[in-house]
Amino acid sequence: MSQPALTAVGAPAQISVVVPTYNERGNLLELTRRLDAALEGFAWELIVVDDDSPDGTAAHARDIYTQDTRVRCLRRIGRRGLSSACIEGMLASSAPLLAVMDGDLQHDPAVLRTMLLTLLREEADLVIGSRYVAGGSVGDWNSQRVMISRVATRLSTLVTHREISDPMSGFFALRREVLDSCVKDLSSLGFKILLDIVASSKPSVRITEVPFTFGERLTGESKLSTNVVWEYLLLLADKLVGRYVPVRFLAFAAIGALGVGVHFLVLSIAFKGVGLSFAVGQSAATLIAIAFNFSVNNLLTYSGQSLRGKRWLRGLASFYLICGIGALANIGISSYLFGNETSWPVAALAGIAMSSVWNYAVSARYTWKA
Ligand code: GDD
Ligand code: MN
Repeated sequence: MSQPALTAVGAPAQISVVVPTYNERGNLLELTRRLDAALEGFAWELIVVDDDSPDGTAAHARDIYTQDTRVRCLRRIGRRGLSSACIEGMLASSAPLLAVMDGDLQHDPAVLRTMLLTLLREEADLVIGSRYVAGGSVGDWNSQRVMISRVATRLSTLVTHREISDPMSGFFALRREVLDSCVKDLSSLGFKILLDIVASSKPSVRITEVPFTFGERLTGESKLSTNVVWEYLLLLADKLVGRYVPVRFLAFAAIGALGVGVHFLVLSIAFKGVGLSFAVGQSAATLIAIAFNFSVNNLLTYSGQSLRGKRWLRGLASFYLICGIGALANIGISSYLFGNETSWPVAALAGIAMSSVWNYAVSARYTWKA
């Protein structure tokens, strides 16, 4: 039996413009105005994905909704991340065409119109706003940022296997099928959502670039920090080897190796330098190395969900507990192997491997609730 049809209410959106925001309160109204002017004739909606900005961007977006119902807001709590925000915004849309742009007006809505027309003329499945094709420009960037961007672009071909002038762009439009066909393979790490999509999509996806000039931020400041470089490396690593081993585990293991260095440093200062007993030096070194590992993992491995304040202390306590159990397991396994004819280095390595996996897996679940 066929279902009774719904009464049609409102025109469906033809295009959802997804804008990730963190402290962009001062820019939203002007962005809405400029989209309204630039996308005249299109049935568009704006999906603001806000990571609970302290400046009240989300509340402001809801205010705008009372005047213009095309402006929607998705508010995420306890998380940060440009890429994951864009993905969730796109998934919240039902429109056939999607676009992603910054909320600070550095991306010109008039160029978005050109990008949409390119999609509608069936000339491409994904259109990138590029600063590096003829007619585009980075605007007034300092030479350091230009160089970093160049190097990052060069590196990106490792995972895209395509000639794209600006795979780092945060300004693009695509058919929803392009997203649907790759969404489960996305890493959703860091800032480079376009690169993530291009690296995960099929070679048959047709990509074109449209020039644009990276404009001035209207108000507020950039959220791009030094973390961006690290998150970019995580993304590349995930695209290259993520199929075989979780990239967070690689980061965790690398930071663990650094922790061994910290351990020896503290031990040699306490034992050789200050002249404390070995047992005291070793204990201090262990406690400090674990705290070091916790802090660095909190900042880097879990950069999108770093613990702060009280939660930081609770996290540290749980990490001590988990690593304590890990150390017991390490001693247990390695002693057992050593007692059963395994050579001492192999027994020791097996113990270390075992406790690293334990520490990683259990802290991911309980300390950072990943
Ligand atoms: N939801 C959410 N969560 N949004 C965020 C976050 C976050 O953690 N971090 C930044 N944003 C939002 C900002 O509010 C802004 O709307 C947009 O993402 C871009 O952030 P900016 O801080 O303005 O970045 P940018 O201008 O320095 O960098 C731009 O250019 C790069 C190319 O060089 C962005 O478009 C990058 O994606 C792009 O790679
Ligand atoms: Mn910006």
